[in-house]
Amino acid sequence: MQKTRQPEAPALSQWQQARKGFRWDSVMAELDGLPGGGLNIAHEAVDRHASGALADHVALRWLGRDRTVLEFSYCALSEASNRFANVLAGLGVQPGERVFSLAGRLPELYFAALGSLKHRAVFCPLFAAFGPEPIVQRLQRGGGRVLVTTMRLYRRKVAALRAQLPELKTVLLIDAEQDASADILALRPLLAQASQSYTIGPTDPEDPALLHFTSGTTGMPKGAVHVHQAVLMHRATGSWVLGLQPGDVYWCTADPGWVTGTSYGIIAPFVHGVTNVVDEAEFDAERWYQILAEQRVQVWYTAPTAIRMLMRCGIHPLERFDLSQLRLVLSVGEPLNPEAILWAREALGQPILDTWWQTETGGIAISNLPQLPLRPGSMGQPLPGIEAAILRREEDGSVQELATGEEGELALRRGWPSQFRAYLHEPERTARCFSGDWYLTGDQARIDADGYVWFVGRADDIIKTAGHMVGPFEVESALMEHPAVAEAAVVGLPDPLIGQLVKAYCVLARGHDPDHRLERAILGFARKRLGSAVAPKRLEFVKGLPKTRSGKILRRLLKARELGLPEGDTSTLEEEAS
Ligand code: PRX
Repeated sequence: MQKTRQPEAPALSQWQQARKGFRWDSVMAELDGLPGGGLNIAHEAVDRHASGALADHVALRWLGRDRTVLEFSYCALSEASNRFANVLAGLGVQPGERVFSLAGRLPELYFAALGSLKHRAVFCPLFAAFGPEPIVQRLQRGGGRVLVTTMRLYRRKVAALRAQLPELKTVLLIDAEQDASADILALRPLLAQASQSYTIGPTDPEDPALLHFTSGTTGMPKGAVHVHQAVLMHRATGSWVLGLQPGDVYWCTADPGWVTGTSYGIIAPFVHGVTNVVDEAEFDAERWYQILAEQRVQVWYTAPTAIRMLMRCGIHPLERFDLSQLRLVLSVGEPLNPEAILWAREALGQPILDTWWQTETGGIAISNLPQLPLRPGSMGQPLPGIEAAILRREEDGSVQELATGEEGELALRRGWPSQFRAYLHEPERTARCFSGDWYLTGDQARIDADGYVWFVGRADDIIKTAGHMVGPFEVESALMEHPAVAEAAVVGLPDPLIGQLVKAYCVLARGHDPDHRLERAILGFARKRLGSAVAPKRLEFVKGLPKTRSGKILRRLLKARELGLPEGDTSTLEEEAS
């Protein structure tokens, strides 16, 4: 039966009214600011709770892979991050210098993030499942001064390439007992010796705080720079979308190596004074349901790939687990299938609220909200302080706003606090994302008459695999380092579980024959360099690649052919080898 729209109207119109009257000053009034003026994320997230009513409240509840549980109160987290800030001071790290992390979800990763912010260094988390190549490239581009990692990850992924990192002065090994050399130091003894007091220096809201790398469609990854003022967005969305209240138990399953794991796995929950559950282990359906039940999680922020894996595992959670505390389930990062929402209503006893944002937006910009009618398949409504439009880019670089319901590129009017300030060292690439007052997201979407935003796809060749962004160029470059590969093109093919699967097409160099052994060797080679999160899962040998006359590979054509879709405009196509 067709659902009537009348009952939705009051909630929607109230919401539109609330949006109109909104000002960012009202969010600032919910924060403290530094005692001497200025704004620092770590002060808002930890120190102000540590000196208030929440001092002894559990801030971080860490669940070890082996089921060890460690708890850190706001006071303890404040002291541990102070110690880390003092370690940085002792190493001579200056405000604005970059501290990278490459580690699993260990407590020290959280101390390092908050301690770096306190010291006004720029924190740049990397995903531990990256291979050496993406790691070294990001460290180089970001000019990493300090790297916080573990013995295993350092040995396997960084040590051999250290000579390529002249700016990297110190490596801090979380799990080492003793220093390995003058510049490879054991972190825990350093933390133990450091003072637990630290006074945050003057921090301008516009001072850089975080650097998150994200993939581009052409070229190498871009470093999106975020500033301390972003905390306003984390505060606001933590209330509007996640509905966080001090004392809540909250779990965000994202790894801090990606923006969700920092904005909503570190900053937003602590800013709201909740107990933030962190699980060291990887996905495991049984374990995840146990965590939800045993930890009495109230708000759960996860991702569509994980939800699809839960849908497949055959467990009926409500029959075996007490999820009565669970108040809100949300997801981000890729399209959330409407079937997943239907499944969740049955399986979890409530729908899943889809949220949309990007590394560049720094925080949730569009979202479904508990008080608004849910339209499965839609990403929801632009939040207060966010103006969204659908634009078409014209040949001359100008943009035209499209009418309600028309498909085009999703754009946001610039000016929200957590908007990235620039791609590091790349003013031209930064400028290309803007047209006048509009930031162009690279996503194709449409907005319906009631303001709901519907995702259509990417406007470029970027691949989303298991929720992780992969730039085809980065993968193609690594494949071409294999002596047998003359040319490579990489696309994302639809996959029912992980959203998109990375597939490579390779043209072989003279003297190499296509066979399974070579296929396996090239895939293994790519996995070793790029890591499992980025490397192609499939490979096909081809005689030639479709290219424009100017030599640009037409990835969309490869994808269309693979999927049996119309090839679209091929007027610029150069002759292909057959
Ligand atoms: O294409 C959109 C997709 O993920 C991109 C941003 O990826 P990243 O910068 O890695 O940040 C991910 C988490 C914030 C977007 O440009 N995306 C994100 N959320 C959704 C989505 N696609 C569809 N539906 C969503 N809810």
